[in-house]
Amino acid sequence: MTVAQHVGEQKIVEKSLQEIETLRGFVHIPAKGRDELFGDLSVPSVVTLNGSPARLDRYGRIWSPLLRRYAKGTQVRISKTENGFLIEPANNRERSVLINHEEKHALSPSDREATANNRLYFRAGSVFIYNDDILTTDVIENKSIDLIVTSPPYNVGIEYADYKDNIPYEEYLIFTRKWLAKCYDLVKNDGRLCLNIPLDKNKGGQQSVCADITTVAKEVGWKYHATVIWNEQNISRRTAWGSWLSASAPFVIAPVEVVVVLYRENWHKRSGSLKSDIARNEFISWTNGVWNFSGESRNKIGHPAPFPIELPRRCIKLFSFIGDTVLDPFLGSGTTLLACAETNRAGIGVEINKNYCEMAKKRLESSGIYQRKLTPEG
Ligand SMILES: C[S@@+](CC[C@H](N)C(=O)[O-])C[C@H]1O[C@@H](n2cnc3c(N)ncnc32)[C@H](O)[C@@H]1O
Repeated sequence: MTVAQHVGEQKIVEKSLQEIETLRGFVHIPAKGRDELFGDLSVPSVVTLNGSPARLDRYGRIWSPLLRRYAKGTQVRISKTENGFLIEPANNRERSVLINHEEKHALSPSDREATANNRLYFRAGSVFIYNDDILTTDVIENKSIDLIVTSPPYNVGIEYADYKDNIPYEEYLIFTRKWLAKCYDLVKNDGRLCLNIPLDKNKGGQQSVCADITTVAKEVGWKYHATVIWNEQNISRRTAWGSWLSASAPFVIAPVEVVVVLYRENWHKRSGSLKSDIARNEFISWTNGVWNFSGESRNKIGHPAPFPIELPRRCIKLFSFIGDTVLDPFLGSGTTLLACAETNRAGIGVEINKNYCEMAKKRLESSGIYQRKLTPEG
């Protein structure tokens, strides 16, 4: 539905975004609302959308990558500003997340530093833990990260302290879209993302989790490079056969997870020290996209869903240079930062729960982090 209206002197068009618009990053102003909104603007022309460069084409479409961060069907309000347009969700809940997100662009370096100090839970050399929400955090500068290695909540009913892990699947994908959009802003143009997620979901209705998250990632701008199959080798006793020895409704379960490898603009990495520390045998073995190593024990670590250090270690050595900055937006027990300290990368972890921040801090301390001298050159 499209509504063109006047609020005081301001002209506003309201519409629900189509899938193609969120996929490709444009908003098509319907003919009915165009005169109201465009006034005497010539088309095509260069304009701004929420302060960022955008393009208005002759068909009445405003193009901007910012639009890719919305979910299809989001009701938005578009209004005219001095140099272009402002778009905001009509719905309050969506708005608070997106506006928080956009406001951070306005933070001065000193404001960011003050916020960062406020949120900083622990620091040792170039390894930082922030007790914050990745959706709204202001502590990390845009385009400052070389590599993200992370495992987000899987929405499989794990009992996290500050996160509900059994929300409706559609809602989970909206949460996924938001954090993927946020992380997209944080990486450099040749920045990368190694995303550890399940291949699929069997409990509470089958879902193609890996395919769906990869699609959402591409919609917010990430480019696809590869998928590694991680064979966790956890040969647990199976009880859910569906229909035993019958074709009526058997269950098929692949006991693997994946690491989806994505990047922002350019796969060829030209920033950083350009110095690698990967051994010949590691390179040969890890570029084979089937990885075989065991999962981590929850009891041993004390966190409900840790990954083993081997996972971030491989991603870091394969996809970043010595001295690069690595981010884990869902830090949990701090495994990615342990791998950063071990491989001489700067590391930033964001974790919403204070107890998990403490756990990560303790793990770093007992790994001898203070004895390590982290330098950009290794
Ligand atoms: C799958 S666990 C990560 C485990 C981690 N890889 C490890 O080895 O311990 C996901 C973590 O994300 C945290 N989390 C959930 N929502 C978050 C948010 N919005 N911002 C930051 N952390 C969040 C949870 O508290 C949980 O610790």
